[in-house]
Amino acid sequence: MLIDTYGRVATDLRVSLTDRCNLRCTYCMPEEGLQWLAKPDLLTDDEIVRLVRVAVTRLGVTEVRFTGGEPLLRPGLVGIVERCARLEPRPRMSLTTNGIGLKRTAAALKAAGLDRVNVSLDTLRPDVFKTLTRRDRHKDVLEGLRAARDAGLTPVKVNTVLMPGLNEDEAPDLLAWAVENDYELRFIEQMPLDAQHGWKRDGMITAGDILQSLRTRFELTEEGSGERGSAPAERWIVDGGPHRVGVIASVTRPFCSACDRTRLTADGQVRTCLFATEETDLRGALRAAPEDSADGSDEEIARIWKRAMWGKKAGSGLDDPSFLQPDRPMSAIGG
Ligand code: GTP
Ligand code: 5AD
Ligand code: SF4
Repeated sequence: MLIDTYGRVATDLRVSLTDRCNLRCTYCMPEEGLQWLAKPDLLTDDEIVRLVRVAVTRLGVTEVRFTGGEPLLRPGLVGIVERCARLEPRPRMSLTTNGIGLKRTAAALKAAGLDRVNVSLDTLRPDVFKTLTRRDRHKDVLEGLRAARDAGLTPVKVNTVLMPGLNEDEAPDLLAWAVENDYELRFIEQMPLDAQHGWKRDGMITAGDILQSLRTRFELTEEGSGERGSAPAERWIVDGGPHRVGVIASVTRPFCSACDRTRLTADGQVRTCLFATEETDLRGALRAAPEDSADGSDEEIARIWKRAMWGKKAGSGLDDPSFLQPDRPMSAIGG
C-alpha cells in the first residue's frame, strides 16, 4: 500500500508517457517548445508496463491514468494499454489528452482495454483556439472527442482552462455545447505550473467567477459532498440533471487532504504531488535489475516507491508565503 504520514492512501497512478506535445498552450509552454527529454532517458514500453505491474500487484493501485505532454504522441500507447489490461487485478485505465489523433486511435484504444478519456478543450472558437494553443487544430480536437464518445470511451470528460481576455466569457456556451454533446465539462483553475513561470494569482479566473458566469444561464445544484470522493472536481447538477459540470479549484479550494495520487514521470521518477519539489528515481533500480528476479528486484522497487510516498507533504503549499513553483512544468510532470 502507498500510504503517507497523513494516512492518505494512493490508489490512483498517473503515468506521463512523454513530455512532448503538439500544441503550445500559452498557460503551459512557450512557442518554441521546451528542452525535451532525451530518448535514452525515457522509460521504455517494457519498463512502463513493469512499473504499472509493481503498482497494481504490490502497491494497491487500482486506477491508472496515462498523461503527457501529449500521450497520443507515444508510439507504443496502444500496446502499453493492452499489456496493462492483462494485469491481475486489472486496473481501470484512462487517458488525458488534447484529442489530436484520437479520431484515428479511439477504437483501437477501446479494444486494447482503455476505459475512458479526458480531453482538453478551452474554446469553441477556432480563432481563439489558434491563439491559445498556437496551432490551428480545433477541428481535430472536435473530431477526436466525437470518436472517443462513439468508441465508448465514456464518460468523455472535457477539461477547460479559462484565460482572461481570451476565452473567459465562454463558460456558458461551453456548458451548453457539452450538455448537447453528452460530454462532462470541468473547468480547471490555472495553476503555477507553466514553463514560463508567468502565473499570477490575481490574473487567474477562480471557481467563484466561473460559477457566477454559468449561473447567468443555468441553474446549478451542488452534488452531495459524499459524491466527490477523491476526485479533484467538485460537481454541480445542471438544470435539474442528468448532466453535471465540474470545477477543479486547485488554487482556491484545494483538495489535498483527500489526495489519492502518485505520479510517474516519463523518465521514471516518482512524484508524490504535482507541486512536489523532490522526485525519487525508480529508473535506476529498474535498469539495475531489468527483470524481476529471485532476489526480489520488483520488491525493491515497491520499497523505494513506498518510501517516496511516506515523504508526501500535506498539501501543495500554494498558500505558503515561501511557495516555490516546481522546477518541472506540468507538461513534464504529467497533468
Ligand atoms: P477523473 O476525474 O478521474 O476523470 O480524473 P482527473 O480529473 O483527475 O484527471 P485529469 O487528468 O483530467 O485532470 C484534470 C485536472 O485536474 C488536471 O489538469 C489538473 O489541473 C488537476 N489535477 C489532477 N491531478 C491533480 C493533483 O494531484 N493535484 C491538483 N492540485 N490538481 C490535479
Ligand atoms: N493550470 C491548470 N491546468 C493546466 N493544464 C495545463 N497546464 C495547466 C495549468 N498551468 C491542463 C490542460 C489539460 C490538463 C491535463 O491540464 O489544459 O486539460
Ligand atoms: Fe500540450 Fe497539454 Fe501543455 Fe497544451 S496544456 S501544450 S495540450 S501539454
